[in-house]
Amino acid sequence: MNLQLAGKTAVVTAASGGIAGAVVRTLVAEGARVLGADQTVTSALKETGAATVEADLTTPQGVEELRRAAESELGGVDLLVNGVGGLAGLPVAGLADTEDETWFRAFELNFYATVRVTRALQPLLRHAVVNVSTGVARWPTSGPNWYGSSKAALSHFGKGLADELGPRGIRVNTVSPGLIKTPLWEEYGPRLSAARGQADSEKFLTDLPAVANVTLGRWGTPQEIANLIVFLGSPAAGYITGVDYIVDGGAEKVIR
Ligand SMILES: NC(=O)c1ccc[n+]([C@@H]2O[C@H](COP(=O)([O-])OP(=O)(O)OC[C@H]3O[C@@H](n4cnc5c(N)ncnc54)[C@H](OP(=O)(O)O)[C@@H]3O)[C@@H](O)[C@H]2O)c1
Repeated sequence: MNLQLAGKTAVVTAASGGIAGAVVRTLVAEGARVLGADQTVTSALKETGAATVEADLTTPQGVEELRRAAESELGGVDLLVNGVGGLAGLPVAGLADTEDETWFRAFELNFYATVRVTRALQPLLRHAVVNVSTGVARWPTSGPNWYGSSKAALSHFGKGLADELGPRGIRVNTVSPGLIKTPLWEEYGPRLSAARGQADSEKFLTDLPAVANVTLGRWGTPQEIANLIVFLGSPAAGYITGVDYIVDGGAEKVIR
């Protein structure tokens, strides 16, 4: 299949990370011109050949830096991939022990950063937006409530935006990964393991796909998520909008 991405332009946030990094590499391989934004621009990101901008996207200043870089590096933006998000070292605790600050920071990182980036780039946007949510948005027991709630808001945002931008020919979709082996888990895994009373975090992480009922019995790879993101962002997916795709190796057992 020809994804028709050669010569297209793309902005990818969280571009130094596991999932968005795979998106950047795939887009570059397809011949797209890519601008990768992250609060830490790694040498691996630079080596992809993408243009880069180092910016904290939870701040209005960081978003403005990204907007300026997109304008000067790319002119227009055919595809925006909002990968930014995560758990940011925030405490894994129940409601009574979770401060306002945790809820605010979770929403800043997982929701407002994408809202602001999308709003700032909207005048430059031409074809597609793909947001990265999580399966946890629909499985409230499998992660901290502040994380799932902030991502559930993001999933809602994507559906509403698809409705708003569709008449202008801009498609908006969401990809909701399950368990994907990325640097996120190096920081979060041991803390989740401890919160679940498991001292051996390596064993906890090895067992997690079975515990989470993943039909395929293993962790997913960043590339397996990037493949769908890049397809949805490409002209090849031209009749798909307003959909939230779970990619979780079969962990979810209900029909939607
Ligand atoms: N991995 C999974 O199992 C999984 C499952 C479902 C959903 N997701 C979602 O997928 C997305 C990517 O996750 P990942 O697993 O690829 O995580 P990752 O490897 O930890 O990558 C996240 C990247 O985002 C950057 N970042 C964090 N805060 C930022 C900010 N304020 N401004 C700009 N950049 C910032 C990080 O930089 P630093 O390294 O400097 O912090 C890192 O490079 C996230 O939205 C996450 O919620 C992941």
